[in-house]
Amino acid sequence: MFAKVSSLGLFGLNAFPVDVEIDISRGNPQFEVVGLPDTVVKESRERIRAALRSCSISFPVASVMINLAPADTKKSGSVHDMAIFMAILRGMRMISEDLEGCSFIGEISLNGDIRRINGVLPMVMLARELGIKSVFVPADNAKEASVIDGVDIYAVNNAEELIRHFRNEELLTPCEHYTPPEAAYNETLDFADVRGQQSAKKALEIAAAGGHNALLIGSPGSGKSMLAKRMPSILPPLTFEEALETTKIHSISGLLTPETPIITKRPFRSPHHTISSAGLAGGGSIPHPGEVSLAHNGLLFLDELAEFDRKTLEILRQPLEDRKVTIARASGTITYPCTIMLIGAMNPCPCGYYGHPKRKCICPKNKVAGYLSKISGPLLDRFDLHIEVAPVEFGDLSSKSKEESSAEIRKRVMAARAIQEERFKGTGIACNALITPDKLQELCPMDDAAETLMKNVFDRLGLSARAYDRILKVSRTIADIDGSEVIRKQHVAEAAQFRSLDRKYWAE
Ligand SMILES: Nc1ncnc2c1ncn2[C@@H]1O[C@H](COP(=O)(O)OP(=O)(O)OP(=O)(O)O)[C@@H](O)[C@H]1O
Ligand SMILES: [Mg+2]
Repeated sequence: MFAKVSSLGLFGLNAFPVDVEIDISRGNPQFEVVGLPDTVVKESRERIRAALRSCSISFPVASVMINLAPADTKKSGSVHDMAIFMAILRGMRMISEDLEGCSFIGEISLNGDIRRINGVLPMVMLARELGIKSVFVPADNAKEASVIDGVDIYAVNNAEELIRHFRNEELLTPCEHYTPPEAAYNETLDFADVRGQQSAKKALEIAAAGGHNALLIGSPGSGKSMLAKRMPSILPPLTFEEALETTKIHSISGLLTPETPIITKRPFRSPHHTISSAGLAGGGSIPHPGEVSLAHNGLLFLDELAEFDRKTLEILRQPLEDRKVTIARASGTITYPCTIMLIGAMNPCPCGYYGHPKRKCICPKNKVAGYLSKISGPLLDRFDLHIEVAPVEFGDLSSKSKEESSAEIRKRVMAARAIQEERFKGTGIACNALITPDKLQELCPMDDAAETLMKNVFDRLGLSARAYDRILKVSRTIADIDGSEVIRKQHVAEAAQFRSLDRKYWAE
Protein backbone atom coordinates (compact mmCIF):
# COMPACT_ATOMS: atom_id res chain seq x y z
CA MET A 1 0.00 0.00 0.00
CA PHE A 2 1.43 3.35 -1.07
CA ALA A 3 0.60 6.73 0.42
CA LYS A 4 2.02 10.23 0.24
CA VAL A 5 1.87 13.04 2.81
CA SER A 6 3.22 16.55 2.43
CA SER A 7 5.70 18.08 4.84
CA LEU A 8 8.15 21.00 4.77
CA GLY A 9 11.87 21.15 5.43
CA LEU A 10 14.36 23.89 6.12
CA PHE A 11 17.87 24.68 4.93
CA GLY A 12 19.15 27.90 6.44
CA LEU A 13 16.36 30.40 5.94
CA ASN A 14 14.99 28.62 2.90
CA ALA A 15 12.09 26.25 3.31
CA PHE A 16 11.51 23.49 0.78
CA PRO A 17 8.66 21.04 0.20
CA VAL A 18 9.15 17.44 1.30
CA ASP A 19 6.93 14.52 0.26
CA VAL A 20 6.81 11.72 2.79
CA GLU A 21 6.11 8.57 0.76
CA ILE A 22 5.32 5.29 2.40
CA ASP A 23 5.19 1.79 1.07
CA ILE A 24 3.89 -0.97 3.32
CA SER A 25 4.40 -4.40 1.86
CA ARG A 26 4.54 -7.97 3.04
CA GLY A 27 7.93 -9.24 3.97
CA ASN A 28 10.33 -9.14 6.84
CA PRO A 29 9.02 -6.72 9.50
CA GLN A 30 11.21 -3.64 9.25
CA PHE A 31 10.99 0.15 9.33
CA GLU A 32 13.38 2.00 7.05
CA VAL A 33 13.66 5.74 6.36
CA VAL A 34 15.52 6.77 3.20
CA GLY A 35 16.01 10.08 1.35
CA LEU A 36 19.14 11.52 2.98
CA PRO A 37 17.81 11.68 6.55
CA ASP A 38 20.18 12.74 9.33
CA THR A 39 20.37 10.89 12.65
CA VAL A 40 17.50 12.85 14.19
CA VAL A 41 15.21 11.96 11.29
CA LYS A 42 16.27 8.29 11.50
CA GLU A 43 15.46 8.28 15.20
CA SER A 44 11.92 9.39 14.41
CA ARG A 45 11.25 5.64 13.89
CA GLU A 46 11.52 5.05 17.62
CA ARG A 47 9.45 8.10 18.54
CA ILE A 48 6.70 7.14 16.12
CA ARG A 49 6.57 3.50 17.24
CA ALA A 50 6.08 4.69 20.84
CA ALA A 51 3.58 7.37 19.84
CA LEU A 52 1.48 4.79 17.95
CA ARG A 53 1.56 2.56 21.01
CA SER A 54 0.37 5.45 23.15
CA CYS A 55 -2.63 5.78 20.81
CA SER A 56 -3.25 2.01 21.19
CA ILE A 57 -2.30 1.36 17.57
CA SER A 58 0.09 -1.47 16.95
CA PHE A 59 2.86 -0.97 14.44
CA PRO A 60 2.25 -2.90 11.20
CA VAL A 61 3.92 -6.29 11.10
CA ALA A 62 5.24 -5.70 7.57
CA SER A 63 8.05 -4.08 5.67
CA VAL A 64 7.55 -0.32 6.08
CA MET A 65 9.62 1.87 3.77
CA ILE A 66 9.54 5.65 4.12
CA ASN A 67 11.08 7.86 1.45
CA LEU A 68 11.57 11.57 2.01
CA ALA A 69 11.46 13.15 -1.45
CA PRO A 70 13.31 14.90 -3.05
CA ALA A 71 15.75 12.14 -2.19
CA ASP A 72 18.88 14.18 -2.95
CA THR A 73 18.27 16.97 -0.40
CA LYS A 74 19.50 16.43 3.13
CA LYS A 75 16.69 16.29 5.71
CA SER A 76 17.46 17.20 9.25
CA GLY A 77 15.69 17.55 12.56
CA SER A 78 12.46 16.20 13.95
CA VAL A 79 10.18 18.39 11.83
CA HIS A 80 8.93 15.49 9.66
CA ASP A 81 7.75 13.31 12.59
CA MET A 82 4.13 14.35 12.27
CA ALA A 83 4.06 13.76 8.49
CA ILE A 84 5.68 10.30 8.87
CA PHE A 85 3.13 9.46 11.56
CA MET A 86 0.27 10.50 9.24
CA ALA A 87 1.79 8.55 6.36
CA ILE A 88 1.81 5.38 8.48
CA LEU A 89 -1.83 5.90 9.45
CA ARG A 90 -2.72 6.41 5.77
CA GLY A 91 -0.64 3.41 4.76
CA MET A 92 -2.49 1.29 7.33
CA ARG A 93 -5.82 2.69 6.16
CA MET A 94 -6.51 3.90 9.68
CA ILE A 95 -7.74 7.24 8.33
CA SER A 96 -9.77 7.64 5.19
CA GLU A 97 -9.62 11.39 4.77
CA ASP A 98 -7.82 12.57 1.66
CA LEU A 99 -4.74 14.55 2.75
CA GLU A 100 -4.47 16.57 -0.48
CA GLY A 101 -3.72 20.23 0.28
CA CYS A 102 -2.59 19.49 3.87
CA SER A 103 0.95 19.73 5.16
CA PHE A 104 2.31 18.52 8.50
CA ILE A 105 5.25 19.83 10.51
CA GLY A 106 6.07 18.94 14.10
CA GLU A 107 8.01 16.68 16.40
CA ILE A 108 6.27 13.81 18.12
CA SER A 109 7.23 12.65 21.59
CA LEU A 110 7.05 9.13 22.96
CA ASN A 111 3.68 9.70 24.62
CA GLY A 112 2.18 11.15 21.44
CA ASP A 113 2.47 14.83 22.41
CA ILE A 114 3.39 17.19 19.59
CA ARG A 115 6.39 19.33 20.49
CA ARG A 116 7.35 22.78 19.20
CA ILE A 117 9.93 23.05 16.41
CA ASN A 118 12.11 25.82 15.01
CA GLY A 119 11.57 27.61 11.71
CA VAL A 120 7.79 27.38 11.47
CA LEU A 121 7.43 30.89 10.02
CA PRO A 122 9.54 30.40 6.86
CA MET A 123 7.93 26.98 6.31
CA VAL A 124 4.38 28.35 6.51
CA MET A 125 5.37 31.23 4.20
CA LEU A 126 6.48 28.63 1.66
CA ALA A 127 3.26 26.63 2.17
CA ARG A 128 1.29 29.72 1.19
CA GLU A 129 3.44 30.19 -1.92
CA LEU A 130 2.88 26.56 -2.89
CA GLY A 131 -0.88 26.93 -2.52
CA ILE A 132 -1.13 24.48 0.38
CA LYS A 133 -4.47 25.13 2.09
CA SER A 134 -3.94 23.71 5.57
CA VAL A 135 -0.84 23.36 7.68
CA PHE A 136 -0.90 21.30 10.89
CA VAL A 137 1.63 22.64 13.38
CA PRO A 138 2.49 22.06 17.05
CA ALA A 139 0.12 24.07 19.27
CA ASP A 140 3.10 25.95 20.73
CA ASN A 141 4.02 27.21 17.25
CA ALA A 142 0.46 28.05 16.18
CA LYS A 143 0.53 31.75 16.96
CA GLU A 144 3.79 32.23 15.06
CA ALA A 145 2.31 30.36 12.08
CA SER A 146 -0.99 32.23 12.07
CA VAL A 147 0.81 35.53 11.43
CA ILE A 148 0.73 34.39 7.80
CA ASP A 149 -2.53 35.18 6.08
CA GLY A 150 -4.12 32.87 3.49
CA VAL A 151 -3.29 29.47 5.00
CA ASP A 152 -5.45 27.57 7.50
CA ILE A 153 -3.31 26.79 10.54
CA TYR A 154 -4.33 23.91 12.77
CA ALA A 155 -2.80 23.75 16.25
CA VAL A 156 -2.13 20.17 17.30
CA ASN A 157 -1.45 19.20 20.91
CA ASN A 158 -1.13 15.45 20.51
CA ALA A 159 -1.41 12.56 18.09
CA GLU A 160 -4.87 11.59 19.39
CA GLU A 161 -6.27 14.95 18.22
CA LEU A 162 -4.86 14.36 14.75
CA ILE A 163 -6.39 10.91 14.51
CA ARG A 164 -9.80 12.08 15.71
CA HIS A 165 -9.73 14.99 13.25
CA PHE A 166 -8.97 12.80 10.26
CA ARG A 167 -11.52 10.22 11.31
CA ASN A 168 -14.10 13.02 11.44
CA GLU A 169 -14.75 12.23 15.10
CA GLU A 170 -13.77 15.60 16.52
CA LEU A 171 -12.72 18.29 14.09
CA LEU A 172 -10.00 20.78 14.88
CA THR A 173 -10.82 24.36 13.95
CA PRO A 174 -8.32 26.57 12.15
CA CYS A 175 -6.61 29.21 14.30
CA GLU A 176 -7.60 32.82 13.99
CA HIS A 177 -5.23 34.98 11.95
CA TYR A 178 -2.86 36.70 14.40
CA THR A 179 -2.19 40.39 13.88
CA PRO A 180 0.65 41.49 16.13
CA PRO A 181 -0.14 44.54 18.25
CA GLU A 182 1.83 47.65 17.42
CA ALA A 183 5.01 47.68 19.46
CA ALA A 184 4.80 50.05 22.39
CA TYR A 185 7.80 52.02 23.61
CA ASN A 186 7.83 50.96 27.22
CA GLU A 187 11.58 51.05 27.64
CA THR A 188 12.72 51.52 31.19
CA LEU A 189 15.97 53.05 29.97
CA ASP A 190 15.46 56.65 28.87
CA PHE A 191 17.86 59.27 27.56
CA ALA A 192 16.50 61.62 30.25
CA ASP A 193 18.67 59.68 32.75
CA VAL A 194 21.87 60.72 30.98
CA ARG A 195 23.10 64.07 32.24
CA GLY A 196 24.95 66.36 29.85
CA GLN A 197 26.66 64.56 26.93
CA GLN A 198 24.77 66.71 24.40
CA SER A 199 27.18 66.01 21.55
CA ALA A 200 27.06 62.23 22.06
CA LYS A 201 23.27 62.31 22.28
CA LYS A 202 23.04 64.32 19.06
CA ALA A 203 25.34 61.84 17.31
CA LEU A 204 23.23 58.89 18.44
CA GLU A 205 20.10 60.71 17.28
CA ILE A 206 21.70 61.07 13.83
CA ALA A 207 22.68 57.39 13.89
CA ALA A 208 19.11 56.33 14.71
CA ALA A 209 17.60 58.68 12.14
CA GLY A 210 19.73 57.42 9.24
CA GLY A 211 20.65 53.89 10.38
CA HIS A 212 24.37 54.74 10.66
CA ASN A 213 27.13 52.90 12.53
CA ALA A 214 28.70 54.69 15.48
CA LEU A 215 31.73 54.23 17.69
CA LEU A 216 31.76 55.66 21.22
CA ILE A 217 35.18 56.32 22.75
CA GLY A 218 35.78 57.64 26.23
CA SER A 219 37.22 57.13 29.68
CA PRO A 220 35.70 54.67 32.20
CA GLY A 221 32.41 55.77 33.70
CA SER A 222 31.77 58.49 31.14
CA GLY A 223 28.46 56.87 30.17
CA LYS A 224 29.21 55.02 26.91
CA SER A 225 27.36 51.83 27.84
CA MET A 226 24.61 53.91 29.39
CA LEU A 227 24.10 55.87 26.16
CA ALA A 228 24.19 52.85 23.85
CA LYS A 229 21.70 50.87 25.95
CA ARG A 230 19.18 53.67 25.51
CA MET A 231 19.19 53.40 21.71
CA PRO A 232 16.13 51.08 21.53
CA SER A 233 14.06 53.90 23.00
CA ILE A 234 14.65 56.12 19.95
CA LEU A 235 14.81 53.61 17.10
CA PRO A 236 11.89 53.76 14.64
CA PRO A 237 9.40 50.86 14.71
CA LEU A 238 9.80 47.89 12.35
CA THR A 239 7.64 47.73 9.25
CA PHE A 240 5.63 44.51 8.89
CA GLU A 241 7.96 43.22 6.12
CA GLU A 242 11.03 43.93 8.26
CA ALA A 243 9.34 42.25 11.22
CA LEU A 244 8.72 39.10 9.16
CA GLU A 245 12.34 39.02 7.89
CA THR A 246 13.72 39.40 11.39
CA THR A 247 11.25 36.92 12.87
CA LYS A 248 12.29 34.29 10.29
CA ILE A 249 15.85 34.39 11.64
CA HIS A 250 14.68 34.21 15.25
CA SER A 251 12.29 31.41 14.28
CA ILE A 252 14.97 29.12 12.86
CA SER A 253 17.15 29.89 15.89
CA GLY A 254 14.37 28.78 18.24
CA LEU A 255 14.21 32.15 19.98
CA LEU A 256 10.48 32.73 19.65
CA THR A 257 8.07 31.93 22.45
CA PRO A 258 4.28 31.62 22.40
CA GLU A 259 4.25 35.03 24.15
CA THR A 260 6.40 36.69 21.47
CA PRO A 261 5.47 34.82 18.28
CA ILE A 262 6.68 37.71 16.11
CA ILE A 263 9.46 40.24 16.64
CA THR A 264 7.84 43.65 16.59
CA LYS A 265 10.70 45.75 17.94
CA ARG A 266 14.05 46.34 16.34
CA PRO A 267 16.40 43.77 17.87
CA PHE A 268 19.10 45.03 20.21
CA ARG A 269 21.83 42.42 20.55
CA SER A 270 24.82 42.97 22.80
CA PRO A 271 27.04 39.86 22.84
CA HIS A 272 29.85 39.59 25.38
CA HIS A 273 33.38 40.21 24.09
CA THR A 274 34.35 36.55 24.61
CA ILE A 275 32.04 35.54 21.71
CA SER A 276 33.52 33.28 19.02
CA SER A 277 33.57 34.01 15.30
CA ALA A 278 30.80 31.48 14.67
CA GLY A 279 28.73 33.03 17.44
CA LEU A 280 29.12 36.50 15.98
CA ALA A 281 28.86 35.86 12.25
CA GLY A 282 27.17 32.44 12.15
CA GLY A 283 28.51 28.93 11.63
CA GLY A 284 28.39 25.32 12.75
CA SER A 285 28.07 22.11 10.77
CA ILE A 286 24.48 23.07 9.92
CA PRO A 287 25.23 26.80 9.89
CA HIS A 288 23.12 28.77 12.32
CA PRO A 289 22.74 32.54 12.22
CA GLY A 290 25.16 34.56 14.34
CA GLU A 291 24.54 37.68 16.40
CA VAL A 292 24.91 39.94 13.31
CA SER A 293 21.98 38.16 11.71
CA LEU A 294 19.91 38.00 14.89
CA ALA A 295 20.32 41.79 14.96
CA HIS A 296 18.98 42.02 11.36
CA ASN A 297 16.98 45.27 10.92
CA GLY A 298 18.11 46.33 14.36
CA LEU A 299 21.18 47.16 16.36
CA LEU A 300 24.29 45.21 17.23
CA PHE A 301 26.05 46.73 20.24
CA LEU A 302 29.63 45.64 20.86
CA ASP A 303 30.60 46.97 24.26
CA GLU A 304 34.33 47.00 25.13
CA LEU A 305 35.08 46.70 21.41
CA ALA A 306 38.85 46.49 21.88
CA GLU A 307 38.46 43.45 24.14
CA PHE A 308 36.96 41.36 21.32
CA ASP A 309 39.27 38.99 19.53
CA ARG A 310 40.76 40.91 16.61
CA LYS A 311 40.07 38.10 14.13
CA THR A 312 36.47 37.90 15.29
CA LEU A 313 35.99 41.60 14.64
CA GLU A 314 37.60 41.40 11.22
CA ILE A 315 34.97 38.86 10.20
CA LEU A 316 32.41 41.64 10.46
CA ARG A 317 34.02 43.63 7.65
CA GLN A 318 32.38 41.87 4.74
CA PRO A 319 28.89 41.46 6.31
CA LEU A 320 28.86 45.16 7.21
CA GLU A 321 29.37 46.07 3.55
CA ASP A 322 27.26 43.38 1.87
CA ARG A 323 24.59 43.22 4.56
CA LYS A 324 24.58 39.46 4.36
CA VAL A 325 26.68 36.54 5.62
CA THR A 326 27.31 33.61 3.32
CA ILE A 327 28.47 30.36 4.88
CA ALA A 328 29.62 27.50 2.66
CA ARG A 329 29.43 23.88 3.80
CA ALA A 330 29.60 20.53 2.02
CA SER A 331 25.81 20.32 2.29
CA GLY A 332 25.37 23.66 0.51
CA THR A 333 25.69 27.40 0.89
CA ILE A 334 23.55 29.33 3.31
CA THR A 335 23.04 33.08 3.27
CA TYR A 336 21.68 35.04 6.20
CA PRO A 337 20.82 38.73 5.91
CA CYS A 338 22.33 41.22 8.37
CA THR A 339 21.22 44.77 7.72
CA ILE A 340 22.36 46.23 11.00
CA MET A 341 23.38 49.37 12.76
CA LEU A 342 26.65 48.68 14.53
CA ILE A 343 27.38 50.59 17.72
CA GLY A 344 30.77 50.02 19.35
CA ALA A 345 31.99 51.36 22.68
CA MET A 346 35.57 51.36 23.94
CA ASN A 347 38.16 52.99 26.13
CA PRO A 348 41.07 54.63 24.30
CA CYS A 349 43.72 52.57 26.14
CA PRO A 350 44.05 49.76 28.74
CA CYS A 351 43.95 52.15 31.74
CA GLY A 352 41.16 54.05 30.04
CA TYR A 353 42.43 57.61 30.52
CA TYR A 354 44.41 58.31 27.34
CA GLY A 355 43.32 61.75 26.08
CA HIS A 356 41.48 62.50 29.35
CA PRO A 357 41.43 66.26 30.04
CA LYS A 358 42.35 65.91 33.75
CA ARG A 359 43.79 62.48 34.52
CA LYS A 360 47.07 61.17 33.27
CA CYS A 361 47.22 57.95 31.27
CA ILE A 362 49.61 55.49 32.90
CA CYS A 363 49.94 53.13 29.94
CA PRO A 364 53.28 52.82 28.12
CA LYS A 365 52.95 54.40 24.69
CA ASN A 366 53.25 51.12 22.79
CA LYS A 367 50.44 49.64 24.93
CA VAL A 368 48.11 52.43 23.82
CA ALA A 369 48.97 51.84 20.19
CA GLY A 370 48.59 48.08 20.66
CA TYR A 371 45.19 48.53 22.27
CA LEU A 372 43.89 50.83 19.56
CA SER A 373 45.31 48.64 16.79
CA LYS A 374 42.82 45.95 17.77
CA ILE A 375 40.40 48.03 15.72
CA SER A 376 41.85 47.81 12.23
CA GLY A 377 41.77 50.71 9.79
CA PRO A 378 39.17 49.06 7.53
CA LEU A 379 36.89 48.33 10.48
CA LEU A 380 37.25 51.88 11.78
CA ASP A 381 36.41 53.15 8.31
CA ARG A 382 33.02 51.44 8.59
CA PHE A 383 31.95 53.56 11.54
CA ASP A 384 30.12 56.57 10.12
CA LEU A 385 30.14 58.50 13.37
CA HIS A 386 33.05 58.61 15.80
CA ILE A 387 31.74 59.91 19.09
CA GLU A 388 34.00 61.16 21.84
CA VAL A 389 32.24 60.70 25.15
CA ALA A 390 33.90 63.26 27.41
CA PRO A 391 33.88 62.83 31.20
CA VAL A 392 30.70 64.22 32.69
CA GLU A 393 31.08 67.69 34.21
CA PHE A 394 30.11 68.07 37.86
CA GLY A 395 27.78 70.88 36.87
CA ASP A 396 25.87 68.52 34.58
CA LEU A 397 25.62 65.80 37.20
CA SER A 398 24.35 68.07 39.95
CA SER A 399 22.17 70.21 37.70
CA LYS A 400 18.47 70.30 38.56
CA SER A 401 17.42 70.98 34.97
CA LYS A 402 15.54 68.24 33.15
CA GLU A 403 17.25 66.38 30.33
CA GLU A 404 15.43 65.76 27.05
CA SER A 405 13.47 62.50 27.12
CA SER A 406 13.72 59.67 24.59
CA ALA A 407 10.16 60.42 23.42
CA GLU A 408 11.20 63.91 22.33
CA ILE A 409 14.31 62.68 20.52
CA ARG A 410 12.25 59.93 18.90
CA LYS A 411 9.88 62.53 17.41
CA ARG A 412 12.75 64.06 15.45
CA VAL A 413 14.05 60.62 14.45
CA MET A 414 10.61 59.63 13.14
CA ALA A 415 10.22 62.91 11.23
CA ALA A 416 13.58 62.29 9.53
CA ARG A 417 12.58 58.70 8.76
CA ALA A 418 9.28 59.90 7.24
CA ILE A 419 11.24 62.14 4.83
CA GLN A 420 13.45 59.16 3.90
CA GLU A 421 10.46 56.88 3.37
CA GLU A 422 8.99 59.42 0.93
CA ARG A 423 12.33 59.81 -0.86
CA PHE A 424 13.03 56.09 -1.22
CA LYS A 425 9.52 55.02 -2.27
CA GLY A 426 9.78 52.11 -4.70
CA THR A 427 13.58 51.88 -4.53
CA GLY A 428 13.79 49.20 -1.82
CA ILE A 429 16.10 51.46 0.23
CA ALA A 430 15.03 51.74 3.87
CA CYS A 431 17.21 54.57 5.19
CA ASN A 432 20.06 56.90 4.27
CA ALA A 433 22.77 54.49 5.40
CA LEU A 434 21.55 52.01 2.76
CA ILE A 435 21.74 54.38 -0.24
CA THR A 436 23.51 52.50 -3.03
CA PRO A 437 26.55 54.12 -4.71
CA ASP A 438 24.72 54.58 -8.04
CA LYS A 439 22.03 56.72 -6.37
CA LEU A 440 24.35 58.71 -4.12
CA GLN A 441 24.75 61.80 -6.33
CA GLU A 442 21.07 61.95 -7.19
CA LEU A 443 19.79 61.54 -3.64
CA CYS A 444 22.40 63.64 -1.86
CA PRO A 445 22.53 66.98 -3.69
CA MET A 446 24.90 69.53 -2.09
CA ASP A 447 24.92 73.29 -2.58
CA ASP A 448 28.15 74.94 -3.73
CA ALA A 449 29.41 75.84 -0.26
CA ALA A 450 28.82 72.29 0.96
CA GLU A 451 30.67 70.89 -2.02
CA THR A 452 33.68 73.17 -1.43
CA LEU A 453 33.80 72.18 2.24
CA MET A 454 33.53 68.52 1.31
CA LYS A 455 36.51 68.86 -1.02
CA ASN A 456 38.56 70.53 1.72
CA VAL A 457 37.63 67.88 4.24
CA PHE A 458 38.47 65.11 1.80
CA ASP A 459 41.94 66.52 1.13
CA ARG A 460 42.70 67.51 4.70
CA LEU A 461 41.59 64.30 6.41
CA GLY A 462 42.96 62.07 3.64
CA LEU A 463 39.64 60.26 3.38
CA SER A 464 38.97 56.99 1.60
CA ALA A 465 36.26 56.78 -1.04
CA ARG A 466 34.20 54.82 1.47
CA ALA A 467 34.60 57.52 4.11
CA TYR A 468 33.53 60.13 1.55
CA ASP A 469 30.35 58.14 0.77
CA ARG A 470 29.65 57.72 4.44
CA ILE A 471 30.14 61.39 5.32
CA LEU A 472 27.81 62.28 2.48
CA LYS A 473 25.14 59.91 3.79
CA VAL A 474 25.48 61.23 7.34
CA SER A 475 25.20 64.78 5.94
CA ARG A 476 22.02 63.63 4.18
CA THR A 477 20.59 62.50 7.54
CA ILE A 478 21.60 65.73 9.31
CA ALA A 479 19.92 67.71 6.52
CA ASP A 480 16.79 65.53 6.92
CA ILE A 481 16.65 66.21 10.66
CA ASP A 482 17.03 69.88 9.73
CA GLY A 483 14.20 69.57 7.19
CA SER A 484 16.45 70.66 4.30
CA GLU A 485 16.14 69.04 0.87
CA VAL A 486 19.62 70.22 -0.19
CA ILE A 487 22.71 69.38 1.88
CA ARG A 488 24.24 72.61 3.13
CA LYS A 489 27.67 73.54 4.45
CA GLN A 490 26.71 73.20 8.13
CA HIS A 491 25.43 69.68 7.53
CA VAL A 492 28.70 68.57 5.96
CA ALA A 493 30.64 70.32 8.74
CA GLU A 494 28.72 68.43 11.44
CA ALA A 495 29.11 65.11 9.65
CA ALA A 496 32.84 65.64 9.13
CA GLN A 497 33.32 66.62 12.75
CA PHE A 498 32.08 63.16 13.72
CA ARG A 499 34.76 61.60 11.53
CA SER A 500 37.77 63.17 13.17
CA LEU A 501 38.46 60.92 16.17
CA ASP A 502 40.55 58.48 14.20
CA ARG A 503 43.04 61.31 13.75
CA LYS A 504 43.16 62.05 17.46
CA TYR A 505 43.66 58.46 18.59
CA TRP A 506 44.79 56.33 15.67
CA ALA A 507 47.02 58.78 13.80
CA GLU A 508 50.04 58.48 16.12
N1 LIG B 1 26.10 61.30 31.80
C1 LIG B 1 25.75 60.62 32.89
N2 LIG B 1 24.65 60.95 33.58
C2 LIG B 1 24.28 60.25 34.67
N3 LIG B 1 24.94 59.18 35.14
C3 LIG B 1 26.04 58.79 34.48
C4 LIG B 1 26.50 59.47 33.33
N4 LIG B 1 27.61 58.86 32.88
C5 LIG B 1 27.82 57.84 33.72
N5 LIG B 1 26.89 57.78 34.67
C6 LIG B 1 26.83 56.80 35.76
O1 LIG B 1 27.99 56.03 35.71
C7 LIG B 1 27.68 54.66 35.51
C8 LIG B 1 28.68 54.02 34.60
O2 LIG B 1 28.48 54.46 33.29
P1 LIG B 1 28.78 53.52 32.04
O3 LIG B 1 28.75 52.13 32.46
O4 LIG B 1 27.90 53.93 30.94
O5 LIG B 1 30.26 53.97 31.75
P2 LIG B 1 31.17 53.51 30.55
O6 LIG B 1 31.58 54.73 29.84
O7 LIG B 1 30.53 52.46 29.78
O8 LIG B 1 32.43 52.96 31.35
P3 LIG B 1 33.45 51.78 30.97
O9 LIG B 1 34.44 52.37 30.04
O10 LIG B 1 34.07 51.43 32.27
O11 LIG B 1 32.66 50.68 30.37
C9 LIG B 1 26.27 54.64 35.01
O12 LIG B 1 25.59 53.49 35.37
C10 LIG B 1 25.67 55.87 35.64
O13 LIG B 1 25.19 55.56 36.92
MG1 LIG C 1 30.89 50.46 29.52
